[in-house]
Amino acid sequence: MSLTPFNYAVAAAGGLLLLQWCLKPKQLAPLPPGPAGLPIVGNVADMPATREWITFAEWGRKWGGILSVTLLGRPMIIVNSAQIMSELDKQGAVYSDRPRLEMGGELVGYSQTLVLISYGARFRTYRKYFSRHFGSPLAMERHVPTVEYETRRFLKRTLANPENLMINLRKLAGGIIMQLTYGYEVQDGDDPFVTLIENANDNFSAATVPGAFVVDFFPSLRNLPEWLPGMGFMALARKWALATSNMIEIPFNYTKQQMAAGIARPSFLSENLENEKNLAAEEIDDIKLAASSMYGGGADTTVSAEYAFFLAMVLNPDAQKKAQAEIDAVIGNDRLPTLADRPDLPYINAIVSEVLRWNSVAPTGVPHTAMEDGIIGGYLIPKNSIIIANLWNMLHDPEVYPDPFKFDPERHIDTPEKPAQQNPRNVCFGYGRRICPGMHLAETSLFSVIVSSLAVLNVAKVVENGVEITPAHENTSGIISFPEPFKCTITPRSEKAISLINEEQF
Ligand code: HEM
Repeated sequence: MSLTPFNYAVAAAGGLLLLQWCLKPKQLAPLPPGPAGLPIVGNVADMPATREWITFAEWGRKWGGILSVTLLGRPMIIVNSAQIMSELDKQGAVYSDRPRLEMGGELVGYSQTLVLISYGARFRTYRKYFSRHFGSPLAMERHVPTVEYETRRFLKRTLANPENLMINLRKLAGGIIMQLTYGYEVQDGDDPFVTLIENANDNFSAATVPGAFVVDFFPSLRNLPEWLPGMGFMALARKWALATSNMIEIPFNYTKQQMAAGIARPSFLSENLENEKNLAAEEIDDIKLAASSMYGGGADTTVSAEYAFFLAMVLNPDAQKKAQAEIDAVIGNDRLPTLADRPDLPYINAIVSEVLRWNSVAPTGVPHTAMEDGIIGGYLIPKNSIIIANLWNMLHDPEVYPDPFKFDPERHIDTPEKPAQQNPRNVCFGYGRRICPGMHLAETSLFSVIVSSLAVLNVAKVVENGVEITPAHENTSGIISFPEPFKCTITPRSEKAISLINEEQF
């Protein structure tokens, strides 16, 4: 048989397949490039202590959209490019585990909750609960009254105490989540459940600071006697673990008591525990832990985005005026906007998108780990390597978003002259099987507070000693990043606006 170009190609392809089958990916591809490290410790000393997304972006300019470093022998892959992230997304079943965190996860207890639980059957059960409760625009529809009700309580609180913006936003986000999860209405003033959960979440942030606890690098330290020097983390871990347990158990018991008394409001828990006697103990545990993951994932993230919206309005009075003109033209001044107005308000929707792009709530996402060796972007991703997606860099890529530091809602609007730029929701909520399960709730809440605030309030710079203060847009470090605290004035747009806010009956 003569060797034609066709069967030569087939034979060559067959040979290549055989070669690929025989060789592991390890032997086929190199690790992504990256800064050289030291023997044993690798790049530990190169890791930035704060605002790591800036350093990772700088490394990206030198090494490319995918790069790697080594931390005590463990590869960490840093992804700066949205295209590479979409490759990871497509192979979600391989790249959707979480790193094991000895302090925050195992000792303090967050590895039982969705954000840190390892990939597997339990993870899928939690995701199923999230997905049914608010995993699509359709599922969100029945929560609209709660979101609108809490938004109006926010307007009232803000009218009364405009200087308490952050506190009011925390009450708003906490109020929505507590209502949807436990059927609990947060109280004005100090709320015991919100305090409980926020304390536990503060512990989570402190316990997961990279490099803060040596036990994260040497897990067997937890087995040493506690009287040894340097073992103080064990006492702290026990204190924090108690707070985690209270966060999980106390609101859960509240709903169960309400159910027993026949006065429970509809909520994730009351619906899923309706047939409690037919549920196995493990199923009840899953429901309890899925519930506690809702507040953990949903409160701070939404607050950060909403706080950023107020900052954007202080810094961009023209965008604010344009948004208010749209509301006045479409809705008028005789009623407050509702979520049903969403399709008719393209500029407000564009502000929602731009807030999510301009201010990264989770600048470097939440770390994933690879469950198998694999190839991404032509490079080897070894099993167990940690994968960090620099979402901040992707949302500020000048090729995708020209003039990326400018707050420019227009970029999200399609016109005959130019199509809208890429929707930031494709990036800002993460990727793969770990993509944010609260994204629809997040967008709904964000739209609600933005449109309602713009309808009745003006946000402006403060004037101190005759001088206008222009705040800087700077962000705190951490998995969830907030705009640094800033000052602004919030005043009602008109007498009519005051009466619209006050006429709401609660
Ligand atoms: C503006 C608001 C929000 C932003 C920007 C945001 C962003 C993110 C990101 C980037 C991740 C990591 C995804 C990954 O690992 O690839 C995540 C995970 C998560 N988010 Fe959100 N989120 C927001 C609001 C919410 C809300 C409202 C909820 C809950 C109701 C929520 C619950 C969660 C949970 C439980 C996870 C962990 C999922 C898992 O590990 O499988 N988030 N979010």
